[in-house]
Amino acid sequence: MRRPPGLSARLKLTLSYAGIVIVSGTVLLVLVWFFLLRYLPDKPQGLLWTSPNRFLLTRIFGRVAAIAMVALVAFGLLGGWLLAGRMLAPLTKITDAARLAAEGSLSHRIRLPGKADEFRALSDVFDTMLEQLESHVAEQRRFAANASHELRTPLAISQSLLDLARQDPARVDAELLDRLHTASRRAIDLTEALLLLSRGERGTFPREPVDLSLIAEEAAETLLPLAEQRGVALDVTGSNTTTTGSPELLLRVVTNLVQNAIVHNVPGGSVTVNVEPQHRACVLRVENTGKVLPPDLVPTLAEPFQRGSRVRTDDHAGVGLGLAIVHSVVRAHEGALDLAPRPAGGLRVTIRLPSA
Ligand SMILES: Nc1ncnc2c1ncn2[C@@H]1O[C@H](COP(=O)(O)OP(=O)(O)OP(=O)(O)O)[C@@H](O)[C@H]1O
Ligand SMILES: [Mg+2]
Repeated sequence: MRRPPGLSARLKLTLSYAGIVIVSGTVLLVLVWFFLLRYLPDKPQGLLWTSPNRFLLTRIFGRVAAIAMVALVAFGLLGGWLLAGRMLAPLTKITDAARLAAEGSLSHRIRLPGKADEFRALSDVFDTMLEQLESHVAEQRRFAANASHELRTPLAISQSLLDLARQDPARVDAELLDRLHTASRRAIDLTEALLLLSRGERGTFPREPVDLSLIAEEAAETLLPLAEQRGVALDVTGSNTTTTGSPELLLRVVTNLVQNAIVHNVPGGSVTVNVEPQHRACVLRVENTGKVLPPDLVPTLAEPFQRGSRVRTDDHAGVGLGLAIVHSVVRAHEGALDLAPRPAGGLRVTIRLPSA
């Protein structure tokens, strides 16, 4: 923003200090003059040198007062300038940090030393803000790098399969087409997941009353074949409870949770989905059996591209966006997501949404 040039805060403070000193000095001198000289006689009584005389004293007083006023003005200006400089020094540091941040350097911190006051409070809030901004930007960069990396893999596979087919058209068989299909399916799935994530983050979707128990039933019905294929028992219980939001996104949330509970399970394991109203909230809980999860790993699972284990031992080639989508959609619905490892193995995921 362009502003017309004006007086600096230091100069304004200096002038105010000097002004106060001059006004109080003047009042003091007027009072002295009034009370001391008013009660003196006009003419000397007795000896001139021993008796106060109004005429003489007025003249002396006038001179002393003029000198005092000049000294007061000088003192007010100089003292004010120095004091204002001292007072405003922290502000200069804060401004410098803000300018650096505006230029894109977020690693700088002000860290004003000293005891708490208004400037230290401002500087601490500013440092906290910089810290959050920096970690947010780093997270965004990591996200973009991960997304590009994940997307490059299926695209590179497609590219090499196509190269192979071009070099030797006779080798194009059903298997090659299958692999090509899988690779492009994976790229499309990933792109769709990314789009879904950004939709959840923007939070711009039409909202309507949604019965969570119906959504849970629909998700379970869709995933029943997968559960059977993996030898996992799937059970849905609970009562009707209505929240407000996007049925499509909430179905995606529940589907992701139930799918996770099935694929990150063990053969012969079980999945239970429970939906019920609780203190003006709709609570959905998905619990599954499985391997024991390290407690320090669990809070990181909802971060984008975070997979429980680097090496995939099964045929579920997830990218690690499932829980990140759940988290962003739940947040966009003003809800909360909680992940807790089960002592016997597996995970308990709870989402709490405001009821309609
Ligand atoms: N119900 C669960 N039980 C055990 N581990 C789980 C469960 N849900 C998630 N996890 C762990 O958390 C990780 C992240 O889950 P997330 O759904 O985000 O990614 P993903 O399932 O690996 O891939 P996708 O993007 O296909 O969902 C998983 O890799 C898995 O290790
Ligand atoms: Mg998943």
